[in-house]
Amino acid sequence: MKITNICCIGAGYVGGPTMAVIAEKCPHIKVTVVDLNEARIAAWNDEDVNNIPIYEPGLNEIVAKARGRNLFFSTEVDKAIDEAELIFISVNTPTKTYGTGKGMAADLKYIELCARQIARVAKTDKIIVEKSTLPVRTAEAIKSILNNTGNGVQFQILSNPEFLAEGTAVQDLLHPDRVLIGGETSPEGQEAIETLVDVYAHWVPRERILKTNVWSSELSKLTANAFLAQRVSSINAISELCEKTEANVNEVAKAIGMDSRIGPKFLKASVGFGGSCFQKDILNLVYISKAFGLHEVADYWEQVIIMNDHQKRRFSKNIVQTLYNTVSGKKITFLGWAFKKDTNDTRESAAIYVADDLINEQANIALYDPKVGHKQVLSDLNYLETRQPAENEKYIKTFDDPYQACENAHAIAILTEWDEFKAYDWKKIYDSMLKPAFVFDGRNLLDPAEMRAIGFVYQSIGS
Ligand code: UDX
Ligand code: ADP
Repeated sequence: MKITNICCIGAGYVGGPTMAVIAEKCPHIKVTVVDLNEARIAAWNDEDVNNIPIYEPGLNEIVAKARGRNLFFSTEVDKAIDEAELIFISVNTPTKTYGTGKGMAADLKYIELCARQIARVAKTDKIIVEKSTLPVRTAEAIKSILNNTGNGVQFQILSNPEFLAEGTAVQDLLHPDRVLIGGETSPEGQEAIETLVDVYAHWVPRERILKTNVWSSELSKLTANAFLAQRVSSINAISELCEKTEANVNEVAKAIGMDSRIGPKFLKASVGFGGSCFQKDILNLVYISKAFGLHEVADYWEQVIIMNDHQKRRFSKNIVQTLYNTVSGKKITFLGWAFKKDTNDTRESAAIYVADDLINEQANIALYDPKVGHKQVLSDLNYLETRQPAENEKYIKTFDDPYQACENAHAIAILTEWDEFKAYDWKKIYDSMLKPAFVFDGRNLLDPAEMRAIGFVYQSIGS
């Protein structure tokens, strides 16, 4: 099948950037990204390309180039499904908040709704690509819905997990380590795989495009994220040990990272990993393992999350203890709210949990994040349902200016590793704070010697 028309359902952090890059690299293919969320689509279509709903370095330039040429954002889901030969499903798959598997299994209702919608609308054969991270065997469910429509349309279902990391999405998409495509072993399945390979081959070297069966592809995505998260939890576990000894976790990370078998990446101790994927995917892995009665496997992976929760809690506890066992009525300034730098995404950000703990202790939180605003911060806190929204509002104040946010603060907590924090006039900040002026660096971002020379009581993770 030759592809001239692609539809992507879901204009989020995955669908938006991925389709923008496909459109940029394949000008002869019409790419339409659809979403039910009208405000989101309106933002993608905003005349000023700096107002697109997702902040990713380099994304606005690509959108500016392709939008209106062969890249379109729309709420007309049925029309886009009808026209496309290739449909990416890129909707959210949050962890279930109700019923069986609550707090663990992925909620597949959005996926199922998509499948039903495709089944209802499609009049010609189509290839359906699952792009959202999904539990193993989801393709089977999609297939069963699609193949029971009785209208004679043939569907092939492929798994094509996304490995982009937020903040570097555009570069990851332009130069992927690998592209993974899973499909059925039947001739039709193989043909569908080759069709998708041909799309990626416009810019990805063919030897980097890996073909597997559907289950391997689905499980590889969960496994990759579980391994990455495990590295962070492993180094964070060591960070606590370092704090009890004379060891420094940055030095340990460097020393072990030079072992070529271990490698230097993903060994940065932190206040804890966040993001929409790691926790959700591990919980999925745990849930599936349990479902198969593999309790040792489930417990093994669950420990990665237990360690991560501990790391976040430990960070807030340390702030309280260091500030003479009370933060009640004290001003604590958060620098950063996003789950990592260079993104406006806050899902599962460690900052949310640290703030929640400190609000329980009645701290007044002043916050500055270069890309996250007050509305989002409040919505993140309210989502936890720890207390009434009005109560959250009372305890948290966001600022547009970091220097103002720090004025008269008892302490600063660095929660996101934004580059701009390194360039601040820290002497000026010190002078404006109450003394002793504390800095809790949850990202080991600043130079301890310099900070201490200014006069700060400076604490980092793991030393
Ligand atoms: C991750 C995977 O990297 C990506 O391949 C997948 O497609 C989606 O999930 P993402 O969540 O966007 O990407 O960001 P990532 O860079 O993996 O960071 C995840 C979290 O781990 C962040 O909170 C980050 O700050 C934290 N982290 C990462 C550390 O604390 N230390 C590290 O050394 C690396
Ligand atoms: P991700 O990080 O996986 O991209 P997001 O939550 O950022 O997740 O994006 C998923 C998008 O999918 C949301 O904008 C949501 O409105 C959209 N969506 C969910 N279900 C449907 C559906 N049935 N049809 C169209 N869009 C949908």
